[in-house]
Amino acid sequence: MHNKTALITGASSGFGLLTSITLAKRGWRVLATMRDLNRREKLETAARDAGVLDRIEFHALDITLAPQIAKIADLVAGRGEPLHALVNNAGFAVPGFADAVTDAELREQFDTNFFGTVAVTRALLPLMRRQGFGHVIVVTSISGRMGYPGVSSYAASKFALEGWTETLRFEMLPLGIQVVLVEPGSFETDIWTRNAKQTAGLRNPDAANATRVTRWRAKLAEGAKNRANPQVVADTIAGILENPKPKVRYVVGKNAKMGLLMRSLLPQGVFERMMIKMTGMDG
Ligand SMILES: NC(=O)c1ccc[n+]([C@@H]2O[C@H](COP(=O)([O-])OP(=O)(O)OC[C@H]3O[C@@H](n4cnc5c(N)ncnc54)[C@H](OP(=O)(O)O)[C@@H]3O)[C@@H](O)[C@H]2O)c1
Repeated sequence: MHNKTALITGASSGFGLLTSITLAKRGWRVLATMRDLNRREKLETAARDAGVLDRIEFHALDITLAPQIAKIADLVAGRGEPLHALVNNAGFAVPGFADAVTDAELREQFDTNFFGTVAVTRALLPLMRRQGFGHVIVVTSISGRMGYPGVSSYAASKFALEGWTETLRFEMLPLGIQVVLVEPGSFETDIWTRNAKQTAGLRNPDAANATRVTRWRAKLAEGAKNRANPQVVADTIAGILENPKPKVRYVVGKNAKMGLLMRSLLPQGVFERMMIKMTGMDG
């Protein structure tokens, strides 16, 4: 038992939920935040089953709402205890072809994945600076390292987060704060179903894109069989938080590692033809 405290965003499902349980089992106190407290039941049940419910606090936090961010920052500072870790996990995807996504859809994607994450981090950094220690994890994605057809908005938001976070790391390291990127490949969570916000362009594709959308959907469904168990991401995050000198980035999952390796090894033309075929973009 080490009584360290971590705040996690998006703790109602997926990586956020599993990380909350994993850290609590390892002795952490967890401030599990979620945008809708009515969705706490899944985490509550999992925590009760694991015998760690008393180590988890539930708090409301929609990372796009400035008043809620200010409130949680006050609450954390008011506890009079250190905050050892912030896990920026909340996020979602706006799938759709780049030429069919609307400006409003693209902005909505950035409001959560980029601006929301940045705002939460900036709100909690003053406390960590006063303490002179802390870990800040930012969950991006393999889509923050390479493009993938059909997810330009998501990839753009995660690429932006990569640049911001990598820079923040240089600025915070001398102050004792460890800033780390976690880049998962494809894992079985709600991001592909409940939390995939279908764009108008995907629901009603124009004639030029219709056939490709159908093929792209079929390829995604095929790929779904290879999605991995998300517990490995939670374990990776817990390991980083317990490492006093973590690396700048952690790629998690075989498919993410394989994608980056193939892009670096294959001639560009070969790699592009392979990606186009794999995702149904051809023809
Ligand atoms: N699963 C993958 O294959 C994969 C791969 C790479 C990266 N990621 C990243 O991993 C992170 C977690 O996603 P996941 O896969 O665990 O998916 P998930 O099961 O859909 O979980 C996403 C979480 O984010 C929350 N959320 C969404 N918008 C929010 C907002 N405005 N404020 C606060 N919370 C918000 C959701 O809340 P609700 O329950 O209320 O919807 C949910 O708790 C995301 O950043 C995602 O981009 C996932």
